[in-house]
Amino acid sequence: MPIHNTPGRYGSVAKAFHWITALLILIEYPLGRIANDRPIDTPRDLEAKFTLFSAHKTLGLLIFAVALLRILWALMEPRPRALHPDRPIETWLAHAVHWLLYFCLVLVPLTGWAAHAATGGLAPIWWPFGQGLPLIPKSEFAQVVFAGMHGVLTSLLLIAVGLHVAGALKHWLIDRDLTLARMLPGKPLMAGLPGEAPRLPEPRIRRPAPLSAAVLVMLATLLAGAASGWREAPAPLALEEAGIGETEEIGDLEPVPLPLPQADQPPMWEVTEGEITFTVSRFGNPVTGRFARWDARITHDPAFGSEGAGHVRAQIDITSLDMGSLTGQALGFDFFDADEHPQAVFEADILSVIDGHVLRGTLLLRGVTQAVEMPLTLRIDGDEAEAGATISLDRFAFAIGRNIPDTSILGRDVRVNVKLKARRRQE
Ligand code: HEM
Ligand code: HEM
Repeated sequence: MPIHNTPGRYGSVAKAFHWITALLILIEYPLGRIANDRPIDTPRDLEAKFTLFSAHKTLGLLIFAVALLRILWALMEPRPRALHPDRPIETWLAHAVHWLLYFCLVLVPLTGWAAHAATGGLAPIWWPFGQGLPLIPKSEFAQVVFAGMHGVLTSLLLIAVGLHVAGALKHWLIDRDLTLARMLPGKPLMAGLPGEAPRLPEPRIRRPAPLSAAVLVMLATLLAGAASGWREAPAPLALEEAGIGETEEIGDLEPVPLPLPQADQPPMWEVTEGEITFTVSRFGNPVTGRFARWDARITHDPAFGSEGAGHVRAQIDITSLDMGSLTGQALGFDFFDADEHPQAVFEADILSVIDGHVLRGTLLLRGVTQAVEMPLTLRIDGDEAEAGATISLDRFAFAIGRNIPDTSILGRDVRVNVKLKARRRQE
């Protein structure tokens, strides 16, 4: 079987590309619909939905890669001549539909990918190249607009494939010509093909009209998709809907380094080892995250004795989060949004209370500052100190995972655990 197209028929590479694409689309389209329509009544449903969507996105990008290779190949190859040049309307329609199919093969995956990249994605693409896309803003607005385009384009793809297959069937069953045979594997009987060698292959853009028509349909579809996404955009994914109060966004405070200790300032404590972890329930099972990089500056005034008061300021590098396979997702826009808010700052006074100590201050996390108070266990032994604190934070108060108001899927309480050892700094 010749590799290249001839004026009479398709070569083996074009045929292989065509049928691989057709098979992948036949799987991918229903997969998208099934994933989209899958109910989310139980955590198990939701997990299945995520898996279906991850499969859909990964396969979709494979189709995208195959489509790009296919288009490159098609651009270098001549196009077999129309079998019925005497039927201009039919030929025009066939060519316009081919253009639509090519456009859809590029734009359907691209818009799906953009919609995914705009949210950080709860169902990740199964690949190691990251989940974002340059130039695509991480916002719910971008997500709904691209998802709207993706949805409408998939309908256009369905219509185009329908017309295309109907045309192929008409040629096979009614005209009984070799249109289908010259795209099928093997060598078609050449008798029915208009002169094989002597005739020139058809230039790819012979008549620009079908191409222009396809471009217009494409543009109208993209606009309609964007508008439908926009219209259907949920009112800002309301925390109120989930029965959760408004949070006050007060913007990222620029972390200010503590001034270096003066001679008359209380001694500072240097953290020698420590750990900041948090645990949250996901589908009923606890999952734990750990921040590898953070820094705490602690002052503790000896004037108050070992029970005395002091101050602590901790800066946590959010990007140093380790949550195993969930790390990428947790750092995404829906959760910690590490691109926008790479740092959390905890600043508190260490207060002596009747039965020990408390830390009372503020936590700046994901651009939201909240007052926090947590009991502190503190043991000072000469120049060494050991401290521990645990607090339950409400993730909604920091707008974390607000797309998931269902707390059986992702718990609302996040238990934060801090343990550290510190040594008194010798000035
Ligand atoms: C040729 C490839 C693709 C086809 C044929 C396709 C088809 C579909 C279909 C039929 C739906 C359901 C639409 C509905 O029921 O309204 C869908 C939804 C979706 N697809 Fe694709 N898709 C493709 C590629 C991709 C890729 C590459 C991604 C992401 C990397 C993706 C992400 C999505 C997302 C996020 C949705 C849900 C949109 C929403 O929230 O409404 N798709 N797709
Ligand atoms: C079972 C389904 C399909 C059948 C029976 C079929 C059949 C055919 C046939 C017979 C041709 C050759 C037309 C000619 O010689 O003028 C063709 C070309 C083409 N098909 Fe399909 N096809 C199918 C599915 C698809 C799908 C799913 C896509 C893409 C989404 C697609 C995209 C194309 C394109 C772009 C061409 C034009 C190739 C070129 O000349 O550049 N087809 N198809």
